[in-house]
Amino acid sequence: MTEAERQAALDAIGAEVSACTRCRLHETRTKAVPGEGTAATEVIFVGEGPGFNEDRQGRPFVGQAGAKLDALLGSVLWSRKEVFITNVVKCRPPENRDPAPDEIAACAPFLTRQLAALDPALVVTLGRFSMARFNPGARIGQVHGTYGPADPESGAPEALTYAMYHPAAALHQGSLNETLFADMQGVPAALLEARQRRSSGTVAGVSSQPAGEAAPAVASATPTSPPAPEPSGLPAESLGALAESDPTDQLPLF
Ligand code: URA
Repeated sequence: MTEAERQAALDAIGAEVSACTRCRLHETRTKAVPGEGTAATEVIFVGEGPGFNEDRQGRPFVGQAGAKLDALLGSVLWSRKEVFITNVVKCRPPENRDPAPDEIAACAPFLTRQLAALDPALVVTLGRFSMARFNPGARIGQVHGTYGPADPESGAPEALTYAMYHPAAALHQGSLNETLFADMQGVPAALLEARQRRSSGTVAGVSSQPAGEAAPAVASATPTSPPAPEPSGLPAESLGALAESDPTDQLPLF
């Protein structure tokens, strides 16, 4: 697909999302939030679902969690214009509650189509609902800051997936802020690995491992040495067993 074709596909998906009535979340939303970024990117960041500000503006990660995500991107000299940012569910769950399984299922085809359009090398998951799609059965407390092959059922069968806590986690638990920034430093290296894996055709059999040295990355973004992590999450996420043993389990999402 050319970049223009990818962009046209993303625009068409965005238009459908904005008019979607597939689940109850459309009844309470102000605006649906399809996602945004560049069709030229190799990296997609996937959060949980829109919050208050995102619902008002129709854009992902524009509230406090968004400021944190911008800072995380900046810490590796990337910006949101150089990646694509979206969510597992495209409409705000009322009161920022967890998205219900049927809502996630109803919205899943949109993310599948966004992945098909972008064909990302790397999927960075923000929080457990997103991680559950790309690395089902994993525990975020164990896999954050590491990458591995994305589950083929995720819609990104040739991508690596890199797990991170949700940026909102750091807003509620200071210690996770350092973890988030430390984990972010591994994202460029994961992208290099993802590129290498695709170009060498070895799409199967990469095991989950900590990311190594940070290095230049994204198609248009070319991060160099990352600045020191900014001091100061999430997830209201909890999909059954995934909720266990996560330090952010009891925290409100926003
Ligand atoms: N949290 C999310 O998971 N997504 C957003 O877009 C904003 C906050």
